[in-house]
Order: sequence, then C-alpha cells, then structure tokens
Amino acid sequence: MKRMMKIMLLLIGVCVLLLSAPTVSAVSLSVSPNLQQVFSGSLVDLSCVDDGQTADGWTVKRTRGGFTEDCGAAPGFGRLLGSYCVVDLSAPSETFWCEDSSGQQSDRVSFSVQSDPTAVIMEIPALPVRTGSDVILRCRQRNGATVAAYFFIKGSSVGHKPEHIITNITQADEGLYSCSTNQGGKSPQSSLRVRGTGTKNRNV
Ligand SMILES: *[C@@H]1O[C@H](CO)[C@@H](O)[C@H](O)[C@H]1NC(C)=O
Repeated sequence: MKRMMKIMLLLIGVCVLLLSAPTVSAVSLSVSPNLQQVFSGSLVDLSCVDDGQTADGWTVKRTRGGFTEDCGAAPGFGRLLGSYCVVDLSAPSETFWCEDSSGQQSDRVSFSVQSDPTAVIMEIPALPVRTGSDVILRCRQRNGATVAAYFFIKGSSVGHKPEHIITNITQADEGLYSCSTNQGGKSPQSSLRVRGTGTKNRNV
C-alpha cells in the first residue's frame, strides 16, 4: 500500500513537471547571412539564441537523408567556432533547427542550394519575417553581381526590374517567390514565411 502511494506521488510529480514545461520554445535558430538561397559550397553560421543571447544547452541539428545529426558531431557538418556552427551548404535538402536535451525544438530552417553556376539565386530571408517589415528581393549571379530579372510571386510575374521591394509585410505575402533573367538564369522557388502578430515583438 505504501509502495502504491509512492508510485502515485511520483506520477503526480511527473505530471506537474510536464504541465509546467513551456509548450513553445522561445529559443530560435539564428542564421547568418539570413539568406534562403545559396550557391553550392556557401558557408552559413548557425547558432541557437534566446533574446539575442546564446542559448546554453541547445544544439544545432540537421536532418539529411533521413538521419538526424548534431553540429560538430557528424563528419562534414559544422565546425564549432565559439557558439557558432559553421555549415558548408552543398546538399540540396537539409533542414536545421535547435534542440535541447529534453527534446524541445525551435522552428526549422531549410535552404535552397543552387549547384548550377550559370543559374541565379534570389535573395530572400531564410527566417520568417515580421509583419510590418520590408523585404527586398534581388536576383544574384554566382560572381556576386545582382542582375535585373523578372520577379515571380505565387506564379505571377511582377515585371522586369533590378529588385522587388515588398513593403509592410502581412500574412497575405506568404507564398512562393522566384526570379528569372533575360539570359535564361532561373532561381529556385522559395517560400516567404511571415511571423504572426502574436509573436512579432520577440527577438526585435
Ligand atoms: C501596414 O499595414 C497595416 C495593416 O494593413 C496598416 O494598418 C498600416 O497603416 C500599414 N503601415 C504602413 C506604413 O503603410
């Protein structure tokens, strides 16, 4: 009987712990440079931050080919430089996020890796953008030069121009974006993610 009581108390304790755990993590993945499309072999710095500070106890992770790996613990994934995980982006489909030892996770970020050096990439943020902010889309060649291009928003062209500026972002601006040059260079399609108003004051 006493043993039962002990087990009951233990179970109640576990439930209280589970209920008091935050359901949504405030920790986010920081991405520098904050660009979703890159040419193959580009380096990106990833880190886990909480209100602009390095989040202790959080690890940058990735999935690749169905496997989950920790930064610094897998061959070819990250050289730890202080609190940064420096990643050499060359695989087409990798997803990155932050996770702590209890399994809490941040939002996920993935990149479009352009391996054709004659193609172009479009500058678009890798991280969700806050409502009310502005985003400038540019089409860029492998040599770093920007080029005038047709910009496509959700499948429709918004004209041929040096850049496309989206002002005062709202949820309605979410969708697929790409650019395409007169010379035939096409960028991948990337989705712009908009962070809802409920959390827009975080990590300002
Ligand atoms: C931005 O959009 C919001 C919602 O549509 C509007 O209330 C606000 O006035 C706009 N701000 C600017 C600077 O246009």
